[in-house]
Amino acid sequence: MFDAKAFVDDQLKKIKAQIKDEKAIIACSGGVDSMVCAVLTSKAIGDKLLAVFVDTGLMRKDEPEQVRDMLKELNVNFKILDEEKYFLEGLKGVTDPEKKRKSVGERFIRCFEKEAKAYGAKYLVQGTIAPDVIESGTNGKGLVKSHHNVGGLPKDMNLELVEPVIELYKEEVRQVARYLGIKVSERQPFPGPGLSVRCLGEVTKENIAIVREACFIVEDEIKRASENGKMKLPWQYFAALLPTRSTGVHNGERMYGKTVAVRAVMTKDAISATPADIPYDVLTAISKRITEKLGDNVTRVVYDMTTKPPATIEWE
Ligand code: XMP
Repeated sequence: MFDAKAFVDDQLKKIKAQIKDEKAIIACSGGVDSMVCAVLTSKAIGDKLLAVFVDTGLMRKDEPEQVRDMLKELNVNFKILDEEKYFLEGLKGVTDPEKKRKSVGERFIRCFEKEAKAYGAKYLVQGTIAPDVIESGTNGKGLVKSHHNVGGLPKDMNLELVEPVIELYKEEVRQVARYLGIKVSERQPFPGPGLSVRCLGEVTKENIAIVREACFIVEDEIKRASENGKMKLPWQYFAALLPTRSTGVHNGERMYGKTVAVRAVMTKDAISATPADIPYDVLTAISKRITEKLGDNVTRVVYDMTTKPPATIEWE
């Protein structure tokens, strides 16, 4: 049985022992993994930790504002960088999912290296968790997909790594978050490369805006249905924008629009997953709201019924 208190006590000692009197920097995405690491490290070394939130322009709706508020409340020393242009530039013309991941991962690290140098940090704290390592093939097994916080690290990186939750699975990280009083403990996971891996084909500012709104609608409708006792809250639920176009009708005219795929899964550890059992009327409401709100671009909404394996949870 996992003991969050014992884990925290042990990690505080380990972090202090590793970092000593040096400074550290953390890429704080606002997700539960990086938030736990930021709070743990901040408790261990105080303001010698700088949490950097990079607004990649690939975040969910209102996310940068929410992260800022959360870091303030948790008394973590932080800085926000507005880097949307830099990230979109790197993704221009890129359609290969692995290249997208590498581009986002490398630019992430470049941003941190610059900040880390300015701050005088020697250590980079990361929220890598056990499934990231397993699926990146670094334990000798095959590569599934290179998670940005494992596969994307440039070889010339001159920061030493601190990875406090590397041996934990998501549910254990959530237990630690609850123990530390972090509000995001129940928040669903979100991939490091952000909406870029939910935007199949080329990533543009316009496509990101579409998938951002679609993700928001899926989250909003499913949360409400779960609060109303209609369904269990899935482990993860979101939308992906597919490059597949199909014929539709918008304002009485023929339209050749884009496709949104709705994905909602149940899983314990993200290693295997099954599609969530969403009531038909909730699916219909999601589809209606997406096609109404995004009718200028989207003509079709589909529900992804695939288990993991063979599919992964994200589409890329
Ligand atoms: P997949 O798509 O591999 O996802 O079945 C498993 C879980 O990991 C999340 N995910 C990521 N998390 N960096 C992360 O920190 C990444 O690059 C990344 N890619 C996927 C995904 O959302 C799911 O919860």
